[in-house]
Amino acid sequence: MCGIVGYIGHREAYPIIINGLKRLEYRGYDSAGIALYDGSKIQLAKTKGKVVDLEAEVAKGITTKGSLGIGHTRWATHGVPNDVNSHPHYSNSGDLVIIHNGIIENYSSIKKELIKRGYVFHSDTDTEVLVNLIEEIKKKEGVKLGKAVQIALNQVVGAYAIAVFDQKKPNEIVVAKLGSPLAIGVGEDEFFIASDASPFIEFTNNAIYLEDEQMAVIRLGREIRIRKIKSDKRIKPFVQELKLNIEQIEKGGYDHFMLKEIYEQPAVIKDTFRGRLLADQGIIKLGGLEEFIPKFVNADRIIIVACGTSWHAGLVAEYTFEDWARIPVEVEYASEFRYRNPVITEKDVVIAISQSGETADTLAAIKLAKEKGAFVYGICNVVGSTISRETHSGTYTHAGPEIGVASTKAFTTQITVLTMIALKLAHVKGTISRSDYMMHLRELDTIPTHVAKALESNDEIKEIAKVFKDSPNFLYLGRGYNFPVALEGALKLKEISYIHAEGYPAAEMKHGPIALIDEQMPVVVVAINSNHYGKVVSNIEEIKARKGKIIAVVTQGDTAVRELADYVMEVPKTPETLTPLVTTIPLQLLSYHIAVMLNRNVDQPRNLAKSVTVE
Ligand code: M6R
Repeated sequence: MCGIVGYIGHREAYPIIINGLKRLEYRGYDSAGIALYDGSKIQLAKTKGKVVDLEAEVAKGITTKGSLGIGHTRWATHGVPNDVNSHPHYSNSGDLVIIHNGIIENYSSIKKELIKRGYVFHSDTDTEVLVNLIEEIKKKEGVKLGKAVQIALNQVVGAYAIAVFDQKKPNEIVVAKLGSPLAIGVGEDEFFIASDASPFIEFTNNAIYLEDEQMAVIRLGREIRIRKIKSDKRIKPFVQELKLNIEQIEKGGYDHFMLKEIYEQPAVIKDTFRGRLLADQGIIKLGGLEEFIPKFVNADRIIIVACGTSWHAGLVAEYTFEDWARIPVEVEYASEFRYRNPVITEKDVVIAISQSGETADTLAAIKLAKEKGAFVYGICNVVGSTISRETHSGTYTHAGPEIGVASTKAFTTQITVLTMIALKLAHVKGTISRSDYMMHLRELDTIPTHVAKALESNDEIKEIAKVFKDSPNFLYLGRGYNFPVALEGALKLKEISYIHAEGYPAAEMKHGPIALIDEQMPVVVVAINSNHYGKVVSNIEEIKARKGKIIAVVTQGDTAVRELADYVMEVPKTPETLTPLVTTIPLQLLSYHIAVMLNRNVDQPRNLAKSVTVE
């Protein structure tokens, strides 16, 4: 869960690497480092902290000249975040230098062997072990760097995206990938290396995504040589043209990426529909789904695997799939599913949901489901991500890059895709009436407008945030389709404001959480017009009777809850099945404003990283 960047070509490498690291900070930000070849030797700087701290460190002393370099932004796995454990790491001779995203699981036994052979270690990292193993092989076997990397990687167990160069041969960088992403940008006589394409998008639209167990020797003046790490088989490079543009990865005038991404939701939900939802014609057409509809409609059950916010989107889908398509659904934390010997058969369809498409637990759950013969369908945002490639088929959410660590637009676009799939299956199965189907299609089509309307309450929500920003605890309640929204609201608040928050099904309150309620406790209740309205109103009464403070999400024009609640946040009326797409919006804004008022790092909350590529 780190970000790696590299450059070899004719430009100054330093600004490319520093800017690239800033774009990749979503992947980890507890320390950062850079190594440049200045024409005669390696210049290396690294420090605990963010990329801005690295810039300050560089300013203290190293020269930033040179057109070959590598850089790293870290989310610590082995060894605490400090200067020494930061990447890049030198080999003992000082000739080789490496950056690594991943984990070498058997590093300890390799380290013992290397110590016996006289190697000295300065850090607690697995990465320093790997670079010394490469050096040892290079010396002992008398092979070139590429070969030494290949032999070393055949001895290690774990996951990696690495880039390594040798100051004695400063015209090449060797890269390799297993389990962590690695993209190579291909320019005119220049190459870029990065965890995703964002660091090089202003320089080239051509990229090669390495597959697992592949490595490449990138040498100036020569085509890239890609080969399989295990079998040595040469692979013809497949250069893709990227659709990403620079505006998509900049803040565009917003104070934070999270706020920008919250406001992008009307537009990106439209993008999710584009060419797929033709409401007037009564058509939903999802390219990846059409051919596999029989698999879904004949499935014994659908198992949804995901983590975090994506898991919450899966919970919403449990309601729509069962309600409309009458297919039994189980929603599983991928991290639990993968380790509990689940019963999976060839008659099951597994849906894996992931914004990044790189989450390690979700990937492992997919592998397990495939081994057991299930058909696996992916719902990912990042195009070309590992999960999108590992699944049998799938649908992209088309939300565009989500940089803020807290998922916002990823969540609503995941629900959008899942809702389209559920409606389509129900229509094919005949478990929904034609009129209900058409009504939902038309209502779905208007969701972007409703989301835009919900965003108009931003100023009022900011005022509510002022009142409650210092509360140490929050409770979030919702029922039915809005129970997952309560969970998601609580997750948003805790991850960016560090305030403890719990999401609960409103009716469960009486079975425990009600004991928490006193005059200090803000309770956010999703109390929109729905089948559960009367029951939720009763739940609100119960909270009021115990002096809890009510912040209610209500349907525009609501009067009953408005009378009871201390504060309300209005959303437009939609059919109950679609409400999560709008009720989520005020909860995103509430956590955003509280976090800003508490001076938190909204886009990069402590201890987190955008894609969790380790278990
Ligand atoms: O990339 P994924 O959707 O697989 O990520 C899953 C979770 O790590 C992610 O949703 C996480 O919970 C977010 N920080 C939530 O805002």
